[in-house]
Amino acid sequence: MSTANSHYSLLHFIQLKFVKMIQQEDVVVILKDAETLKYNRKDYLNFHQDLSSKDREITILYKNEPVFELVVPKGVFNPYGGIAAQAFMSGVLSGLVEVQGKRVLDLGCGSGVIGFCCILKQSQKVLFSDLHPNVIEIKNHPLIREQDEVKVQDLCAEEADQTYDTVFLPFPSRSIERPIDPESYEMGILRNDDLVFRAIAQVGKVLTPSGEFVFFYRVFNDQFPLYLEVMSNLAKYFDLTTMKLLWYVGEGKGHGLLLSVQKYA
Ligand SMILES: C[S@@+](CC[C@H](N)C(=O)[O-])C[C@H]1O[C@@H](n2cnc3c(N)ncnc32)[C@H](O)[C@@H]1O
Repeated sequence: MSTANSHYSLLHFIQLKFVKMIQQEDVVVILKDAETLKYNRKDYLNFHQDLSSKDREITILYKNEPVFELVVPKGVFNPYGGIAAQAFMSGVLSGLVEVQGKRVLDLGCGSGVIGFCCILKQSQKVLFSDLHPNVIEIKNHPLIREQDEVKVQDLCAEEADQTYDTVFLPFPSRSIERPIDPESYEMGILRNDDLVFRAIAQVGKVLTPSGEFVFFYRVFNDQFPLYLEVMSNLAKYFDLTTMKLLWYVGEGKGHGLLLSVQKYA
């Protein structure tokens, strides 16, 4: 199947609704000591290993104005130089993804940048959840309110059914078959594909009926069947007729999709 055909089939299969697109470039992540980095983002693994080798301070700008700062703890995924976290943050800060009054789960929260945007937009509560032990530092950030929580856990296994209105999940983008070190930078960028299927099932459980699942997913042209499998798994819990394409990026070997879909009512 040619690339163009596979893209068409994907869009056709999931019946995507095209809504007003997120302006991903409205959010910029500034790294305090960017000049000390040894690798370019194209050297993906080395870039992230270097980036996560120590605590690093970042500032988030929205439409050129600083919105908050934080320290990304050593080993935790750093959104500097990436694309997906910026798209999520822009979606929340612009109001295209509505979180006011919502109980939000920032799943695979990393440094917590998406959840912090939800706090700034008056979500009712945010649970920051990630398997990396160093994310616990989020608790000490001045934006954290009494009702917000930070948990180190595998996906959202400990959460009760139907307790969140919105779940955000930027899946680690590179799929790999070997085991991934759960305490290193690797887990921020590499995943075993069963993570995707486990996440869909768990998110389907913890969302309220009609709750919104917002996720970033990289589609590689040579792995097209996997994406049909992803959509089939989603259909067990989510109404695919509600699926919206919030942001799209074309890349050399595939493309990145920021998608939103609602759980069955
Ligand atoms: C691409 S990073 C995104 C981090 C952050 N949300 C952001 O946008 O900057 C993916 C995150 O998923 C987390 N993760 C990977 N496997 C996980 C699992 N089984 N349970 C919970 N979090 C996991 C990683 O530790 C990492 O922080």
